Parts: sequence; structure tokens; C-alpha cells
Amino acid sequence: MAEIEIEINGCKLTAKPNQTIIEVADAAQIYIPRFCYHKHLSIAANCRMCLVEVEKSPKTLPACATPVASGMKVFTQSAKTIEAQRAIMQFLLINHPLDCPICDQGGECELQDLAMGYGSSHSHYNECKRAVYDQDLGPLIATDMTRCIYCTRCVRFGEEVAGMREMGGTYRGEHTEIGTFVKHAIQSEVSGNIIDLCPVGALTSKPYRFTARPWELDQAPSISPHDCLGSNIYVHTRYGKVMRVIAKENQAINQTWLSDRDRFSYTGLYHPDRLEEPIAKIDGNWQPVDWQQAFELAAQGLRETIAEYGADKLGALASPNATLEEFYLLQKIMRGLDSPHIDHRLRETDVQDQVTMPLFPGLNMSLAELATCDVIVLIGSHLQKEQPLVALRVRQAALQGATIVVINPVDYAFNFKVALKKIVAPHVLLEALTEINISSILTNKKSCILLGALSLHHPHASHIRNFAQTLARSTGASIGYMTDGANTAGGWLAGAIPHRQAGGTAIHHQGLSAYEQLTKPRQAYILLNVEPELDCAHAKHAVAAFTQAKFVLALSLYRHPILQTCAQVILPIAAFTETSGTYVNVTGEWQSFTGVAEAFRASRPAWKILRVLGNFLNVPGFDYEHSDNVKQEVKEKVEQAHFSVAHPDSSNPHSKQQERPPIVLSRIGEIPIYATDSLVRHAEPLQNIQDKMEGDIASARLNTKTANQLQLRDGDKARIKQGHAEVVLPVKIDDRIASDAVWIAGGIAPTAELGDLMGAIEMMKI
Ligand code: SF4
Ligand code: FES
Repeated sequence: MAEIEIEINGCKLTAKPNQTIIEVADAAQIYIPRFCYHKHLSIAANCRMCLVEVEKSPKTLPACATPVASGMKVFTQSAKTIEAQRAIMQFLLINHPLDCPICDQGGECELQDLAMGYGSSHSHYNECKRAVYDQDLGPLIATDMTRCIYCTRCVRFGEEVAGMREMGGTYRGEHTEIGTFVKHAIQSEVSGNIIDLCPVGALTSKPYRFTARPWELDQAPSISPHDCLGSNIYVHTRYGKVMRVIAKENQAINQTWLSDRDRFSYTGLYHPDRLEEPIAKIDGNWQPVDWQQAFELAAQGLRETIAEYGADKLGALASPNATLEEFYLLQKIMRGLDSPHIDHRLRETDVQDQVTMPLFPGLNMSLAELATCDVIVLIGSHLQKEQPLVALRVRQAALQGATIVVINPVDYAFNFKVALKKIVAPHVLLEALTEINISSILTNKKSCILLGALSLHHPHASHIRNFAQTLARSTGASIGYMTDGANTAGGWLAGAIPHRQAGGTAIHHQGLSAYEQLTKPRQAYILLNVEPELDCAHAKHAVAAFTQAKFVLALSLYRHPILQTCAQVILPIAAFTETSGTYVNVTGEWQSFTGVAEAFRASRPAWKILRVLGNFLNVPGFDYEHSDNVKQEVKEKVEQAHFSVAHPDSSNPHSKQQERPPIVLSRIGEIPIYATDSLVRHAEPLQNIQDKMEGDIASARLNTKTANQLQLRDGDKARIKQGHAEVVLPVKIDDRIASDAVWIAGGIAPTAELGDLMGAIEMMKI
């Protein structure tokens, strides 16, 4: 479309014909005050704060709702404009309590700022002000609804972006109230965005409330460490302590949004369980030790075990949230000690196709492209909870008419419209994939197959991947892997996998995968931010493997009872806000960050701990001065490596589905949204909202048909057996669950005695 010319305050500007005045002004950095306008929401034009004078228009016009026209002349500073904006300000303040001194938004309030700029120094309004009762929106969002100016940003966000219509307006005129229709805690996993959107102090952050004033805070950019997106954030600190986290705009990644997990996980940083200093088990008792002694004990323990059993008996497991630098140094230590057994795919059990995988499992398209797909096939994914902001992109695609197909073990209520779904138990997922004719839906369209956590953690994940790859090859669709943690891509690139070095160079003598390291226990382990029974695919094997080992060195954020049972030395590591490093996200974006807060007590950045450990173990090449040096080394290896994907060998017995005993009842071991990693598990507000969102996650959920077959009723107690492991859980009837399957969460203490996240189980009433 041909561009047109307009003038704002005498400046000649070019614009597209469908743009509004405010868009053109924003692009030219000409400020127009606003409350209801937001670039990612629909136009409401209800606050009128953006009124501007336009030549030949008898009245001032709302800049947010007025499209530009060729030759249009706009005046944002004229007397007529200022008079209109001042009048609007008076109206807006009629019922506003003007309680800035006790308002948490004070100092960063759009209303306060504009009242200073456009308000009157005295009020003409002498009547009683209206007051509105507050609402309890749950543990994340505090309300002071008397301050609301009805901009409806929060309402539109829920309807248009989050896809959950939770906030709305009731009553009319002066009696209008904004709130939840049915009084309940906000359920959306991206609810915290309405705190950022609210231009006044009506919606504020409950965990942050009254803890600091904005002018006391230092702001520093960082990257969120919880999902494969790597959302951009600002961390606000006071005196070196993290006070809150807010969204940092990055249109290619998180736009202006943030998931609640990314926004509120900082509340776990100063949990009482946080490990304050290195500790070592000396004569059977845990004792604090200084760093020198800790390194000596760690190096001695590892050396002695290797001397006695050989390097092949040493294994290393790292959290998928470790940084690229931490992964690289850990694998360098392991390979320097002659052990190939390193992995970060803690919850994956079937990786037999690993040599055929790409350089790293990613989305293979940009997020913007995902939002414009015609067809998206979700296989084994509770996308909204796994990757909340990716789900918003899928929702964008669905709103533009994309066909969304879902094959899942639970009929999840997504925030997008699903055109076709198949709900089947995990043990028949593969058969179900071949039964529905997905290829006819995908052909000749811009399409994507997304494999979620329930696929990647599946006992036949390699076959699901193989199916998806074959389908993609025959239809031209793209495959996206929705991987665990913040840095699975970084783990692959840095060589924290048993079959490839940094950069993807294949290793002749492959090591054991994370799962194999549990089923074929080693005599010594290095654990990097791993809570064994909560982070590993098979909780029982993990605890057994680490407990029988002669020596376990753990690098941990927290004191953890199982670690204290099985480890000999535990070193306190810095959290993501206290260290520097790099995360590589699912689109392959390398995002580096620096420490923005003081390290907690005696904790140290894990990359520095590994660097010193490498020196204590006399592994050459550990003289890095900065994490950037490590990153640079990985980057060079990635650029220089001659990576090629091995093609599946159909004669290889591993590429065929192995014989397995028939399963009659299988576990759906989903990791709840706020159980994914140790930081999130220690964030109290997130734990509290999880209960309100999901009910009791320590329950065994099954549908009515399966419950009847097992003679179980809602509220019964049932014994769940998985191999030699068993737990007792309350029964909950949930007809969203596929038949012949039971939803039993992983990553939580009450189910940590069980085995595989997706294994066969038995269940009986007690
Ligand atoms: S609560 Fe805030 S965001 Fe919602 S309508 Fe009121 S002022 Fe706007
Ligand atoms: S910002 Fe234009 S009417 Fe509210």
C-alpha cells in the first residue's frame, strides 16, 4: 500500500494508510498521553486521554482510534489539545481516591504522571467519591479497585491475548466495576501481565506489595530461566537484593508479555532452604566447610572413586536450566577425566534416536512464523502450562484461522480453538498417531508439528519423533521440539550430551544417557542443580542410584533432603540473577546475561565453581577469567564443527519399536507448571496459585469409565504401584483424562516414590 504524508506538530511524517495517529506519533517518538491504548490490544478508545487537535476537525479526536489520512495535520501540543486533555484528566480524577502516598504504584503510575502534567492544582469536585470493594484475585495480584479508571486493558488482555475471559465490567456508568464475574482467583498462567498493563494502582503485584518504592530500585536486564523461550526480563533490585521481575519488550521472543512462572519465580530466591555455604559430610555428619576444603574434598572424592572403579564409573547430570558455560565446563571436566557419561535430558527416557537429531532440538521457525501457520499439530503437549508464551503464539495463529490438531492423553482446555483432537492413553499414543490422517491436513499448507513434554518424556519418544519426522518430510511441515528447561538447546550445543561434543561433533565412544546413568548406576556422580527425585524421569531409580554411589558431588541452590542423604559434598551455587551466562532458546537465539544481584551468602556462580574444580582435578584448559571466554570457546566450536545428521538406519534394531508387555493402565506423569525446577518449587506464591488452578495435584486422576472398571470413586484412597514402587493417593474423577490412564503428576514430593513418568501402573482401592 502506498505510503501517505501527514504532519504532526509541523513535522512531515510518512505513514501507512491503515495506521492510527498514535501509532505514527509513537514511531516518531512524539508523545501523546494515553491510558486505554496498548499496541498489542484492540482499540477501546474509552479513556479519551489521547485527544488531539486535527486540522479541519471541529472537535479534538482520539489519537488511538483515528486513522491517518493524506495531508492530515495533527497538533499534540496546541492549546486546544491541552485544554481537552486537562478536561479529561478532571473527569478521570473525579472518583479516583488520590491516595498516591499509600499506593504501591506511586512513582511509576501513568495516572500520577499525567495528573502532574495535565492535572489541575485544585479540585472542582466537592461531592462524595465513589468507592469499590476490592476482590481477592489470588496470591499473585493485589487489588484496590477504587483506583480503577475503567481503561479495560486488563479485560481486553484476558479476552484477546490470554484467551481466558476472567476480568470484566459489571454495572453501568458511574457504578461500573471491573473484576471477576464469579469471585475467584485468576487462573491464567500469564495473569501477571495485567499488573504491567494497569495504568494505575488498581492491580499491583501481591508478593512485591509495600516492599519497595520504584525510585529505590535498580533495573537490569536479564533472561528468564524457566522455559525454552528465554523471555526477556528486567530484574529490579534494592541494595543488591531482587525485589521483583517485570517484562522487557522483545518482539521476536516474548513481545511485551511474561508468564507468571517467569515473573514470580524470584520469590524462591531467598527461601529459608537456600544453601548458604559449602557443606561436606565428615565422619557421617554434615558440616560447613570453607571453599578451599570443599574443593579439596570434592576433588579427592572424585579422584579416589575413579582410581578404584575407573573413569567409566563416573557420571554427570545437569539441570536443563544450566547455562551454556556451565554445561560446557561440566562436559569438559567429564571428558578431561575420561568419562563420556554426561547428560542434561533428565526427564527423557527414550533417546535411542539421538544420533539422528539435529544440532539441537528447536522450533525450526521463528515465533512470528509460528503465529502465521495454517495448521499446527500438537502431539503430547499441555502447551499452555509447559510454554505459556508459545501457547499465546498458537492462539494468535488460531485466531487467524489456523487449524489446530491435538493428540494428547488429557483433553486439556486450551486457550485456543482446537479443530480436531484425539485423546488417548500414553501407551496407545503411537497407534493413535497412525490412525488419524494428519498428512492430508498438513499437505500444501504452512504447517508445524509441535512435540511437547508428554511426547519427549514418553517411553517411546524416539518413535514419536520418527513418526513426526516422516510426516514432516512427506508434507513439508516443520517440526518444533518444546524442550525442558531454559537451555536444552545450549546443553546440546555445549556438548552436555553423551554422544556429541561441543558444536555437535559425534563421539565414537558414546556415554550413557541420563536415564541409563540411573538404571546402570555409577560409583560417582556430579549433579548440577538436580533434585534427584523431583527432576529425574524415574524418581525411585534416581534416589537408589545416587544413594548407592560411593561419592556424589552436588552443586545446588537449596538444601535438599535427598541430596543430604546421598551426597558427600554440596556446593552452593548462585541463582540466575547472581551469575553471568548464556541461554540458547528454542529458536536458536543466544542470549547472554550478567549477574544483577548480590550472590546469596557464600554461594558462587556455578561456572566459576566448575572452573576451579577443573583446576583441582588437574584437567587442562580451565583458565577462564570471565564467562564470556567460555562462551566464545563454545561459539568457535559451533562455527568450526562439521555437523551432519546421521540418518535413521532401518536395519538398526534400536530404530524399531521394541517388544513390550501389553499395558492395561498407564501413568500420565505430567510435570505441573510450578513444579518444573527447584527455583519455581521454592516460590511460595506460585505454589499457592497452583493449588487454586489445579486443585490437589497430589491426586490420582482418572475418568469415570476407568474408575468404574477399577471400582474407584471420587475421594477414595488408592494404592498406586509402579514396579517395586508404590504410593497412596486420593482419587479424583476427571473426565478429561483418556481411558486406561491415570494422571499422576511428577516433580512433586507425594509422588516421588514412583517410577517412570509414563510407565505402566497398577491401581487399587484401599
Ligand atoms: S483495573 Fe486497571 S487495567 Fe483494569 S480497567 Fe481498571 S485501570 Fe484499567
Ligand atoms: S488512549 Fe485513546 S481513548 Fe484512551
